[in-house]
Amino acid sequence: MAKLEVNVDHVATVRQARRIDEPDPVTAAALAELAGADGIIVHLREDRRHIQDRDLRLLRETVKTRLNLEMAATPEMLAIASEVKPDLVTLVPEKREELTTEGGLNVAGNLDFLKDYIRKLKEAGLTVSLFVDPHPEQINAAKEAGAQWVELHTGTYAEARDELTAQKLFDELLDAARHARSLGLRVKCGHGLDYVNIKRFRGRQEFEEFSIGHSIVSRAVLVGMDRAVREMLELIK
Ligand code: PXP
Repeated sequence: MAKLEVNVDHVATVRQARRIDEPDPVTAAALAELAGADGIIVHLREDRRHIQDRDLRLLRETVKTRLNLEMAATPEMLAIASEVKPDLVTLVPEKREELTTEGGLNVAGNLDFLKDYIRKLKEAGLTVSLFVDPHPEQINAAKEAGAQWVELHTGTYAEARDELTAQKLFDELLDAARHARSLGLRVKCGHGLDYVNIKRFRGRQEFEEFSIGHSIVSRAVLVGMDRAVREMLELIK
């Protein structure tokens, strides 16, 4: 059965808007686990715009399922991952000015660099996933680079505005997943998945895990609003 890893970055985004101590992504992660999440994901960005080093340290101590650290392939992150030892490291491209990850890693174009980087992660005892577009040349390169997992970028599929395009892009993901599995890679997918576009994936054995953040945190805010307001009203009236 497919698994769900929950990305709690945007709980930290709300906290950082005030630079205080709530809402705490560590607490959100514990609640996600209690609800049945199979893993917790955080992206420690170079600019620390949401998740902080303290969050990562505490999550390593408290996560009872699996901790997936998304990060850029930099020397700083190699040192942090080697020390913290998340259960999975997902390498993603990172640009300072982007709002969120904008596409897959160009593994084919950076093969020698990534081979060396992944070797160092593995020497530290880490398991590595590469976030890639669902294209055969990137998947082949991920295998050659030494990754054990690929995470297929579903952002383009998620942005499709009509059924025909969505189906075509979904089929591309399906082919990519089958190709990756035929090479012995494990397959997860994520980015932009929500309560509507996830439906095409139901029952598909090709995808082992889903990595979902924004839509879950968005829904948590909305479904929690009624209760939060009622609780405040009770204190006021
Ligand atoms: N996978 C990767 C590699 C990502 O960078 C992100 C966004 O942080 C996600 C999955 C989750 O995407 P979303 O927040 O759109 O669900």
